[in-house]
Amino acid sequence: APVKVTKICCIGAGYVGGPTCAVIALKCPHITVTIVDLNQARVDAWNSPDFALPIYEPGLVDVVKQARGRNLFFSTDVDKGIQEADLIFVSVNTPTKKTGVGAGFAADLNYVELATRRIAAVATSSKIVVEKSTVPCRTAESMRTILEANSKPGTRFDILSNPEFLAEGTAITDLFSPDRVLIGSLQTPEGKSACQSLGDVYANWVPKDRILTVGLWSSELSKLAANAMLAQRISSINALSAICEATGANIDEVAHAIGFDSRIGPKFLRASVGFGGSCFQKDILNLVYLSESLHLPQVAAYWRQVVEMNEYQKSRFSKTVVDTLFNTITGKHIAVLGFAFKADTGDTRESASISLIRDFLSERAYVTIYDPQVEEAQIWLDLSEACPNTPLENIKKQVTIAHSALEACKQKEAVVIATEWKEFREINWQTVYDDMSKPAFVFDGRLLVDADKLRKIGFKVTTIGRGERV
Ligand code: UDX
Ligand code: UDX
Ligand code: ADP
Repeated sequence: APVKVTKICCIGAGYVGGPTCAVIALKCPHITVTIVDLNQARVDAWNSPDFALPIYEPGLVDVVKQARGRNLFFSTDVDKGIQEADLIFVSVNTPTKKTGVGAGFAADLNYVELATRRIAAVATSSKIVVEKSTVPCRTAESMRTILEANSKPGTRFDILSNPEFLAEGTAITDLFSPDRVLIGSLQTPEGKSACQSLGDVYANWVPKDRILTVGLWSSELSKLAANAMLAQRISSINALSAICEATGANIDEVAHAIGFDSRIGPKFLRASVGFGGSCFQKDILNLVYLSESLHLPQVAAYWRQVVEMNEYQKSRFSKTVVDTLFNTITGKHIAVLGFAFKADTGDTRESASISLIRDFLSERAYVTIYDPQVEEAQIWLDLSEACPNTPLENIKKQVTIAHSALEACKQKEAVVIATEWKEFREINWQTVYDDMSKPAFVFDGRLLVDADKLRKIGFKVTTIGRGERV
């Protein structure tokens, strides 16, 4: 009979492991959930008495308030977490490799391997080990090999793949009512039994017909495929936005019209300054690398183009800003509203805003940044990484961080909207206008503001995907 799970350990208290396992704890009061991480500061933040959690996610604090100390615990004692659990999620980071074979494309699986080896080294009883991090196909197989080669007599390890589909900014609602939960296992009796054990955990709140069970490799590939196809939709709409700008067609109207086709669907068709986030680019590059290692160069080239289109969209937008500001921004003052890769998150990984600011700095413009959630230290870190040849003190001569949108825009020549924060739509644009140098330019990289309303105030407005400039 399938093991009835009563103790879960999650290795990795990041954007994925933290919210996912907090929700499991909330929905399954009979299961003890311990989230472990090597990073003491991160664990301390999860445990902080005033709920100053390490990640910003709407609704997350409420979940942690209800479950923490009841059946949800955060700890740096990784070994104890492993030993006590009957089911272990591996939810550690899998960044793109920076050096070595596959640098720039392949996933760095070092963290997954270290966590797996730790499980093998300290486990004293049988475990179901669940791969939660997004990893290339066949990683589960490697995890299985490592665990089996190191298991003690009487302990067995069953490996599952259970990719997470939550999006940042909506993590809690996504986890409360997921489109689907996907569980991959070996199609052996033991594999299927482990699959059922995990399925029973989710069945506490997810309808049974949304819990899909497939083979291990299908599960791993489905995660990469879902992200690749979502990113491809954005690159497709962004490619069309360039045609709109050149012809006078309107990308909103085009997206609306094609979205009515039920085979296409209306969601995820917002043209933008380019997609960001820790997943899309990384997962596509993984798929490219995988295709190349499987000797499928045409397949690799096909997916690579999705990332290239995204790079093009970002640089095209920077160029539009420079062109519109009379072909030079040297010495000009530009406000950039938004630094996170999307609204409702403080996460900046691969944010389009970073690329824009880097481009503006290389044109020797002065940039003032405002984001409602991103920490100042994070902004300096990201800009240092984006401009590796410029010392931070020089970056700081060109960049200021503001504490409100109004403050950021004051006396600037142009405002660039890089993240679709709702508050940017709602700021008092008349006040912004009154305080700006004239002519006052707005560049809307997110189709966020009512361009006509702003034009009536007096702004020169440029938006993605619309022919009528300024
Ligand atoms: C994504 C997937 O949606 C999620 O299922 C997966 O688990 C992780 O990767 P995430 O990166 O958190 O989630 O956010 P998402 O909402 O997908 O947005 C990604 C990027 O695309 C953001 O920069 C966003 O602004 C951009 N985007 C999204 C657009 O430019 N246009 C759109 O229509 C949608
Ligand atoms: C298409 C559009 O669907 C229609 O809206 C437009 O007006 C004309 O072009 P059509 O070419 O008649 O219609 O057929 P469609 O059902 O779209 O199929 C086109 C091709 O794609 C066929 O060869 C079909 O077999 C193939 N196809 C379709 C697939 O290979 N896989 C699919 O999932 C769907
Ligand atoms: P994701 O977005 O995939 O959740 P994050 O970087 O936000 O990625 O979180 C991954 C977390 O995993 C980090 O907090 C990191 O400290 C933790 N981690 C990495 N390797 C280990 C390990 N071997 N044991 C415990 N925690 C780990």
